[in-house]
Amino acid sequence: MKVLITGASGLLGRRVFKRLKGLPNFDAVGSCFSRIEDKDLIKLDITDRQCLEQWFLENKPAAVVHCAAERRPNIVDNNPSLAYSLNVKATQDLCDLAERFHCWLLYISTDYVFDGKNAPYSESDSANPLNTYGKHKLAGEEIVLSAAGGQNAVLRVPILYGPIEYLGESAVTILYDKVREVSTSCSMDDRQRRYPTHTDAVAEVIHDMLIKHQEQLLTGVYHLTDTQMLTKYDMALAMADVMQHPTAHIKASKLEPSSSDTPRPYDCHLHTDRLRQVSIPIPSRDFRTEIKRILTENLMPGA
Ligand SMILES: NC(=O)c1ccc[n+]([C@@H]2O[C@H](COP(=O)([O-])OP(=O)(O)OC[C@H]3O[C@@H](n4cnc5c(N)ncnc54)[C@H](OP(=O)(O)O)[C@@H]3O)[C@@H](O)[C@H]2O)c1
Repeated sequence: MKVLITGASGLLGRRVFKRLKGLPNFDAVGSCFSRIEDKDLIKLDITDRQCLEQWFLENKPAAVVHCAAERRPNIVDNNPSLAYSLNVKATQDLCDLAERFHCWLLYISTDYVFDGKNAPYSESDSANPLNTYGKHKLAGEEIVLSAAGGQNAVLRVPILYGPIEYLGESAVTILYDKVREVSTSCSMDDRQRRYPTHTDAVAEVIHDMLIKHQEQLLTGVYHLTDTQMLTKYDMALAMADVMQHPTAHIKASKLEPSSSDTPRPYDCHLHTDRLRQVSIPIPSRDFRTEIKRILTENLMPGA
């Protein structure tokens, strides 16, 4: 099964590519855009329809795992039209090509499609994104689900963490920048409920979905989340503790976000019923163990 993984230089796509690469039943092709150092990846600008079309003609994949996106809500707000071309327009082009080449598309989406006011959310609950990033991802979902006679699938995931190239690569590890600055007081949100999920757990489920899809058609929306609830303040304290930093400089903030901040949902806890219905196990990782591993093993000095 030839599988294209878009965004394979990113936080999630990198682990999906690592998981599938070299497996006997898969011919995994990972694509990158600006990070071209990894010679195992191909450079493919998915906003360039001609390039995409040429690649599909030459390679005829059986599946696409579409991870590439602009996932930082404030960057999306700063340049919505650029983000739209990646998050929505490129998704449309990929869908058109996937349909033409009879290729199954699995679109990675986000819990930010919900407004966070009525958690937990099942796969059939109505979406109501609060910010432009969430609106883009929902538009991407709608394109994916209405293409190919409804034969594609969407996997929604919450905040991700996993092996990183630099601290800012994940919305979890970026907090460590402030945690390790022990002489400077910092304020961490202690209100919004988050369920950090390891990228290897997501890669495991994507692998299982690709296998399952060869037995039965997987269509529609699936949810995946780890179970442990942490606020950003909880994550910061856990990082300080496992890395043996003092915690007095880390202050819990219970303040509502100001009107100038990009709005973010309060609690988008996801139900994972549909994965269970197709007998795909929901993996879980211990946050403290994994974040310690990431910060000690991945973080190069000076990163
Ligand atoms: N990270 C999270 O906490 C989180 C939470 C929920 C859902 N998600 C979803 O999960 C997916 C993966 O997110 P992530 O955190 O892995 O993202 P990421 O680390 O920011 O990676 C983004 C990827 O998109 C690629 N890309 C950017 N512009 C491109 C273009 N024009 N053509 C082709 N590729 C392009 C990047 O390539 P280069 O780096 O080589 O330029 C990179 O591989 C996204 O769909 C996101 O919406 C993420």
